[in-house]
Amino acid sequence: MKKWTPDSWRGKPISQVPAYPDASALADTEARLATFPPLVFAGEARKLKKQLAAVAEGEAFLLQGGDCAESFAEHGADNIRDFFRVFLQMSVVLTFAGSQPVVKVGRIAGQFAKPRSSGEETKDGVTLPSYRGDIINGIEFDEKSRIPDPARQTMAYRQSAATLNLLRAFAQGGYASLENVHRWMLGFVSDSPQGAAYGALANRITETMDFMRAVGITSETNYALRETDFYTSHEALLLGYEQALTRVDSTSGDWYATSGHMIWIGDRTRQPDHAHVEYCRGIKNPLGLKCGPSLDPDGLLRLIDILNPENEPGRLTLIARFGYDKVEEHLPKLARAVVREGRKVVWSCDPMHGNTITAAGYKTRPFDRILREVESFFSVHRAEGTHPGGIHVEMTGKNVTECTGGARAITADELQDRYHTHCDPRLNADQAIELAFLVSDLLKKDRAGQERRRAVNE
Ligand code: PEP
Ligand code: CO
Repeated sequence: MKKWTPDSWRGKPISQVPAYPDASALADTEARLATFPPLVFAGEARKLKKQLAAVAEGEAFLLQGGDCAESFAEHGADNIRDFFRVFLQMSVVLTFAGSQPVVKVGRIAGQFAKPRSSGEETKDGVTLPSYRGDIINGIEFDEKSRIPDPARQTMAYRQSAATLNLLRAFAQGGYASLENVHRWMLGFVSDSPQGAAYGALANRITETMDFMRAVGITSETNYALRETDFYTSHEALLLGYEQALTRVDSTSGDWYATSGHMIWIGDRTRQPDHAHVEYCRGIKNPLGLKCGPSLDPDGLLRLIDILNPENEPGRLTLIARFGYDKVEEHLPKLARAVVREGRKVVWSCDPMHGNTITAAGYKTRPFDRILREVESFFSVHRAEGTHPGGIHVEMTGKNVTECTGGARAITADELQDRYHTHCDPRLNADQAIELAFLVSDLLKKDRAGQERRRAVNE
């Protein structure tokens, strides 16, 4: 294989590239970005990789989630706070049910660039270039907005920095203490129409917290209850931006993407000899790879060879996104190939991207299909003896109406009420926590199965 450099991707075929009208303005922006401080440090990415290695070994669970696309318009403290609160509640429920650490990775502080199935969009007889995310062009349907503008990359960088700054403060400043998260969760349970179904688990967490308090373990005495590790991730789609933020780590001499802790390769840009795979193979961050229905076992093994040649656990997370009715057909053969070749990976389930439909003129996702995809994912892994390592969801902390169903049974006619996403439909706060409670049942069963197997073997 040829030598990797941060710009070696430029010699490869590439898809999903915006047509910037002014190449020299783009080059100027990239050159300036290359002088800006990194958003994350190599040591943090290594720490995340280590935590993901525990997931690969079956000893932890990955929760990854956030907006489909972050936007400049929704860059407020409330949005970040509400997302973080919901995300932590999901994580507490999953930690308790699985009796395992939950590795927390947001789709946030950099998730701006979007791949599109069509380069153009037509409305009322007018055809314009598609919206590709706020880091590239504007969502408004007019000619000027849709022209890719390099200045947006600088805005996305600054927004990512500010978002990350607040997240770090929340994660380490006491806001994310277990007592707070527990209190928010009780609020959710008491308000939810399905609250009774979640009461048993919530009560057990309350009893555990009471017990810990009684023996003197509180957030004042124990930093693990006061602080949390929270990481950022996004799709590494806009490679000029990624390259500008690719830096050498002075302690190891290795290259890292410093735009986020973890980056992933989308389902549309995972061709093994193309630019996105080329860029990602050379950086040392943990990587995600979206695995859709068109990926066959040989194709997957080839990608694993390129992206994780040293078979390092935690390096590669395979994010399965087949559609609720296609998991059984596709996942077993991929999981078997990975086991047969002895490859160490994290398997995570994205139950969103294979389940998008149109209803009442809106792109939406029915909650029961999302749940069914996760259930099938767990049952395939149970049958194959592999670890269902995590979930990857599009969600927000706000009470939007973008996905149908859930305990409050959002109907197709209600989608118009609060449909705010800049791209794909997200779970709202209630739906996201509800999903965590439902997944916690699957984790508990899995846990019980593991314990039985262990007892038999001893
Ligand atoms: C996404 O995660 O928003 C996305 C576009 O996913 P995929 O590449 O799996 O379609
Ligand atoms: Co999406």
